[in-house]
Amino acid sequence: MSKKMDVRLTINGREHHINVSPDRTLAEVIREELHLTGTKIGCDDSNCGVCTILLDGMAVKSCAMLVGQANGCDILTIEGLESAGGLHPLQRAFIDRFSIQCGFCTPGMVLTAKAILDENPKATEEEIRDGLHGNLCRCTGYVQIIEAITDVRDGKYGEA
Ligand code: FES
Ligand code: FES
Repeated sequence: MSKKMDVRLTINGREHHINVSPDRTLAEVIREELHLTGTKIGCDDSNCGVCTILLDGMAVKSCAMLVGQANGCDILTIEGLESAGGLHPLQRAFIDRFSIQCGFCTPGMVLTAKAILDENPKATEEEIRDGLHGNLCRCTGYVQIIEAITDVRDGKYGEA
């Protein structure tokens, strides 16, 4: 393990200064040092997408990034998506459309969906499917997931 270094991460609007080995993954540090366990770890090999977070607004697989690479970055995890105590429209839509079965993929799906709609609020269903290609759902809830995202895109939950 490398010598520890000071890393500054702004997570969900709060700045954290931690002293960690820079070669630990961002996913590990988010979960084990900062106790934000909404970010899941599945394959730990950049294949399943359950560890997706938003890094400076981009959907990133946090198991595939070293914490040292994220130094100074602005991160959003699923815990930061609510605002003023209310669920984000994507969270509400996932609930309403029954887009959650075991829920293990859900934080990564929701954050990837946010990145897709932030970049392209009028994304077509095909573009949404394409944007989600790195996020796997073992419960095969893809139809409901796409329906939830298109509901938000279509303004059924107000401003996303
Ligand atoms: S745990 Fe990161 S992609 Fe699977
Ligand atoms: S809801 Fe179970 S893996 Fe997606």
